[in-house]
Amino acid sequence: MTPSSAAELANARHRTLELLAPLTDDELTTQHSPLMSPLVWDLAHIAHYEELWLVRELGAGDATDPRFDDVYDAFKHPRAERPDLDILGPQAARDFGAAVRDRALGASIVAGSDPRVDELVADDFVYGMVARHEHQHVETMLATLQLMETGGPAAAGDGPGHAEADDAPPEILVPAGPFVMGTDTDSWAYDNERPAHAVDVPDFYIDTTPTTNAEYARFIAAGGYDDLQWWTESGWKWRQESQLDAPQFWIATDTGWMRRRFGRIEPLPAREPVQHVCWYEADAYARWTGRRLPTEAEWEKAASWDPAAGIGVKHKTSEDAALWGSTARWGPDDVGAHPGATAPSGALDMIGGVWEWTASDFSGYPGYSSFPYREYSEVFFGPEYKVLRGGSWATHPTAVSTTFRNWDYPIRRQIFSGVRCARDA
Ligand code: AVJ
Ligand code: FE
Repeated sequence: MTPSSAAELANARHRTLELLAPLTDDELTTQHSPLMSPLVWDLAHIAHYEELWLVRELGAGDATDPRFDDVYDAFKHPRAERPDLDILGPQAARDFGAAVRDRALGASIVAGSDPRVDELVADDFVYGMVARHEHQHVETMLATLQLMETGGPAAAGDGPGHAEADDAPPEILVPAGPFVMGTDTDSWAYDNERPAHAVDVPDFYIDTTPTTNAEYARFIAAGGYDDLQWWTESGWKWRQESQLDAPQFWIATDTGWMRRRFGRIEPLPAREPVQHVCWYEADAYARWTGRRLPTEAEWEKAASWDPAAGIGVKHKTSEDAALWGSTARWGPDDVGAHPGATAPSGALDMIGGVWEWTASDFSGYPGYSSFPYREYSEVFFGPEYKVLRGGSWATHPTAVSTTFRNWDYPIRRQIFSGVRCARDA
């Protein structure tokens, strides 16, 4: 393991422990929503995953407790069942994590004796996978904290992150032509981002920034939730069955919209990107504006394609935003607050801010092969999952890039998800 991978693992653990430090044991062990695990399950699951990949799979030791292979396997127990499992308490989970980390750092891996091990440690892939897994669960735990009626990060307050209206054009034209989607060269990329392949994308327009709360509120005010013409058939069914008529955590008052953010009720900030919309809402909103969601290919081309650099070059500027900094205020910055992170296309806020729903189902790229395990990506391929791109304010920069693919059910909205519209040129 290189020093930089060890530092990434240390950063991830620091972030996990810092996030959970203000919480009581009761808050850590209670299930706050059937959609989410008790936080203490995430905490020990992080350690179990690390033990599996950095100790056991590398031939560097055995399981601490074989029963953990059942209780901390996400496939064996859906989130709703997890509070009833016999799982470690908060202190035992922290101790388990620390002990596994010591074993992972102390493991001596002998190159050339086992091809599978060589493949896992090549370019430090498996260390990146484990660090990113921990960051992914930190984001999941943030979504759990946001679901709690009270409490949550102590520092959730105001701060920088506000932007005045600027003169960026509302949408940009991305000219037709092939670009390279996915990657063969990013050593920490997941199997689902590989292989790199040329995709010919016709001209399209995409919004310079994600949709703001103020813009989304106009859709509600115009009766968009009650007008079936904007909704897909399954979206309208969701709308009628759920009876939901605004993004999650929005509160209608006589004086306008408020929202709950980490246990605080506050006025809805007009220029923040809308968060906590499901795919059906994002899709209906886009239709109401006369447009549509971008495909994944369109999104990635707008985020990374630099015509001046040639089609094989992934432009990284849009990844420099490091919007993780905005966890100082535990929410996204206003749209357009990071003009220094403009993609070559002219698009802003592609990385960080909010996850952006795309029109695309989750599937493997041509030539996909699973590595190192089918249950990360492959078992989720199919029409029941929609792809989200770009990461949110809650995503650590190490855990996202312009090729990174996230996915979820079209009804999910406890995640930090928003919308950016596109249209044919
Ligand atoms: C990529 C965010 C959909 O949380 O279900 C965590 C990531 N995989 N543990 C998820 C993941 C295994 C995954 N997502
Ligand atoms: Fe996991």
